Amino acid sequence: MKFVVTAGPTREPIDPVRYLSNRSSGKMGYAIAEAAFEERHEVVLISGPVCLPPPPLNLLRVSTSDEMFDAVHAAVRDCDVLVMCAAVADYKPAQVTTSKMKKRDEKFSLELVPARDILQSLPRDRDFFVAGFAAETNDIERNAREKLRHKNCNMIIANDVSDSAIGMESDNNAVTIFFEYGAPKSIACAPKNVIARQLVKIICETAQKTFDKKNLRMNDS
Ligand code: CTP
Repeated sequence: MKFVVTAGPTREPIDPVRYLSNRSSGKMGYAIAEAAFEERHEVVLISGPVCLPPPPLNLLRVSTSDEMFDAVHAAVRDCDVLVMCAAVADYKPAQVTTSKMKKRDEKFSLELVPARDILQSLPRDRDFFVAGFAAETNDIERNAREKLRHKNCNMIIANDVSDSAIGMESDNNAVTIFFEYGAPKSIACAPKNVIARQLVKIICETAQKTFDKKNLRMNDS
């Protein structure tokens, strides 16, 4: 299959020297891209700024949420599976100043506007499979199911980012996968490359079932 995998954070510039970002290391997304590549799938990895060595596959580097938005929309024109692992910004500064903002001895507020949601912007009627992620600190199942529905994903991979032993920056993870149909599946705490191999297997099986169902429906009509 043709995989598009996103990884890492985005950086939303404030001025020429400052930006808003988050703690995503990119490790989970890179591990998924590499696991899919090892299984001989075609892989495009769209990565925000990370400190990881570039894997030997098609790597597109982006920085802002707008750049990631454009790169994903271009890449999904020719893909079977999109895995949105990147921690894309929810907000960006309303204005980016061209010169460095000077320090002042007074409070100040930064006006933020919503960044575009990449998953929500994807067409509802599409011929590729979408696996989203849900980074949660509480009410994991409720929030993950809400994202599955609201973001129109075929599956959501939820992880508990309140636990520092797993998730963001850690080498390990533990996830629960929620599907459109059927019971959730959990993968216990393990190194991210081990989790990634299992995720690629589950993604391929579920994508294949989704495509088969779609073909059946098309043949029926
Ligand atoms: N995502 C996206 N575009 C954004 C923000 C997030 O496509 N601008 C995707 C992420 O790549 C992930 C999913 O949405 O696959 C959920 O991201 P998450 O950070 O867990 O949730 P948010 O949508 O940001 O919502 P909240 O912060 O309220 O939990």
